[in-house]
Amino acid sequence: MKTDKVTTTRLIEMKRAGERIAALTAYDCCSARVLNEAGVDMILVGDSLGMVVLGYPTTLPVTMEEMLHHTRAVARGNTRAMLVADMPFMAAGVTPGETVRNAGRFVKEAGAEAVKIEGGAEMRDHIEAVVRAGVPVLGHIGLTPQDVLVLGGYKVQGKSPAAVRRLLNDARVLEESGVFAIVLECLPAPAASKITRAVRVPTIGIGAGAGCDGQILVLHDILGMYPGRKARFVKRYAEIGGAMRDAVARYAIEVRKGTYPDKEHSY
Ligand code: KIV
Repeated sequence: MKTDKVTTTRLIEMKRAGERIAALTAYDCCSARVLNEAGVDMILVGDSLGMVVLGYPTTLPVTMEEMLHHTRAVARGNTRAMLVADMPFMAAGVTPGETVRNAGRFVKEAGAEAVKIEGGAEMRDHIEAVVRAGVPVLGHIGLTPQDVLVLGGYKVQGKSPAAVRRLLNDARVLEESGVFAIVLECLPAPAASKITRAVRVPTIGIGAGAGCDGQILVLHDILGMYPGRKARFVKRYAEIGGAMRDAVARYAIEVRKGTYPDKEHSY
């Protein structure tokens, strides 16, 4: 099992050394333990929590209190991975002071080691203030799900040369603002590769092709536990949802038939 604690500087060294970064989301202590045992480098308590765990239709209703609650749970199970908490809708971007206060709560009250902030160049003042306050920031550009209402849906971004130029500028501004890595979500692979080559900090792709320095996916997606429509970039590595359903159905049958508990499972 890997034991060396992953830090922001280690992630930047990994990019330099050409070592790819494996990241996943987690929302509870038990999953965080499994991800650490499996050697994942970065765990994101994503606001995807709202959709895959809490049953909201989008990430927009997720609150600071919900994010703090789940970040604390993940922190209890985390050992080696870099632990990043997602700033939910409206927690970042209103005023830099408010962004700093909310980012600080994740570190001070929940055990996060960094926060993720969605948005490009327009977030410069906020990111600089958070980094200055001592909280590392993971940037996030491309498809930013908190902008779903403005974007009119979850769509691939960066499809025109002008859009790629804007994203390149966003990535450079984020790097100058002090982010330690940047999530690139739902971009054509060539655009993501271009951005990856243009910055010194690692890029972590999700639906952005193989040219990024690392990859992140939602845990429930790779385990087949989220019944929503499967995005093209999602690869299912297990069908845990189906396995859970079968196990629970067998349990219910045995309880009804009276074959559970049997002698072996009784005192
Ligand atoms: O909320 C989330 O899980 C994310 C990802 C990058 C997967 O933002």
